[in-house]
Amino acid sequence: MSKKPLNIGMIGYGFMGRTHSNAYAKVNHFFDLEYQPVLKAICARNGERAQAFADQWGYESVETDWRKLIERDDIDAVDICTPNNLHHEIAIAAAKAGKMILCEKPLAMDVEQGEEMCKAVEEAGVANTVWYNYRRVPAVTLAKQLIDEGKLGKIFHYRAVFLQDWTISEELPQGGEALWRLDAAAAGSGVTGDLLAHCIDTALWLNGGISDVSAMTETFIKERVHSATGEKQKVEIDDACAFLAKFDNGSLATFESTRYARGHKALYTFEINGEHASIAWDLHDLHRLSYFDHRDESTVRGWRSIHVTDGDQPYMGQWWVPGLQIGYEHTFVHQVADFLDNLAKGQPTGPTFRDALETQKVCEAVLTSAKSKSWTSVN
Ligand SMILES: NC(=O)c1ccc[n+]([C@@H]2O[C@H](COP(=O)([O-])OP(=O)(O)OC[C@H]3O[C@@H](n4cnc5c(N)ncnc54)[C@H](O)[C@@H]3O)[C@@H](O)[C@H]2O)c1
Repeated sequence: MSKKPLNIGMIGYGFMGRTHSNAYAKVNHFFDLEYQPVLKAICARNGERAQAFADQWGYESVETDWRKLIERDDIDAVDICTPNNLHHEIAIAAAKAGKMILCEKPLAMDVEQGEEMCKAVEEAGVANTVWYNYRRVPAVTLAKQLIDEGKLGKIFHYRAVFLQDWTISEELPQGGEALWRLDAAAAGSGVTGDLLAHCIDTALWLNGGISDVSAMTETFIKERVHSATGEKQKVEIDDACAFLAKFDNGSLATFESTRYARGHKALYTFEINGEHASIAWDLHDLHRLSYFDHRDESTVRGWRSIHVTDGDQPYMGQWWVPGLQIGYEHTFVHQVADFLDNLAKGQPTGPTFRDALETQKVCEAVLTSAKSKSWTSVN
């Protein structure tokens, strides 16, 4: 069967530009889909570097102004892989031009922008999704299945951390390429929007809505040289954030994130405790799901480490043979596969912009709570 082409125009060719390009290139080899992504155009400000990226990954053409990319009739879907401060403007323009949108996380710089983006895609009626890719780690999707089947029973606790250690040096500047995450004007916030947003998206998906939060944030290094000016400027992002949360289902949660946890590169873990069973997951061992079931016979009761590589576990039937694991890049392949499959069926692909707005609301409540030193309602 010949496939329907879906012409992709990607904006930004950094870390995420690579993971998404890899996903578009691979998806039809492993998933049987009606649509086939076509790498139509890559856009970045530096034409020479964009051309080198196009040559390496097989993009047919290059643009140096994202507005030109959006105006093109031969682009069906715009993939936004730029720093956070550009998501809003690009997404609104793309929606107005009738393009489908795959947008990197966090959705926006704040809730107000996020609401405008939701309105724009909904009024235009264009397919949209946000790349909260950890939902599509097979072990995390399996956790969702176990929870939805009621295996855990009533849920009491949700515990998530995301720890890194790459900003401890005072010498690190803020702003510019690679270090835009330290510049609030480009990133919006620090670990809250960058790392906790992932933890929050997974949590909302697995355990439902969050009603209230109580947070503290800290900026350990108060001033850094700004790459744009060469001058020392105040650091406006949160270097670390910890918060308590109450879920709508009555469960309690703790979330913590920092870029000052020496020894941890990307330690995203969560644990969920229910009345019958608990589950735990660790990004550093992403193909395993830990599961404890109190209903097991007492003599053999204990934590089991499920190696999520079997054909009847989520997504794994499309890959190798039982026992052989997959990794980080496959989460993006899964999101593209689901997007294309849902497109053929006329269904949305979660997280949609509207789903991601819920995460944005929790992030904003967290930052408000930290500032006001008080419990804050999410809505
Ligand atoms: N889903 C995830 O797990 C995940 C992981 C990392 C980053 N992200 C998100 O992806 C986005 C990009 O992050 P990254 O790590 O790839 O950053 P990056 O710095 O590696 O890449 C950013 C790209 O945007 C381009 N860019 C900047 N301004 C532009 C403009 N005006 N026009 C065109 N291109 C422009 C840069 O040239 C660069 O290619 C961010 O929103 C980030 O939060 C998500």
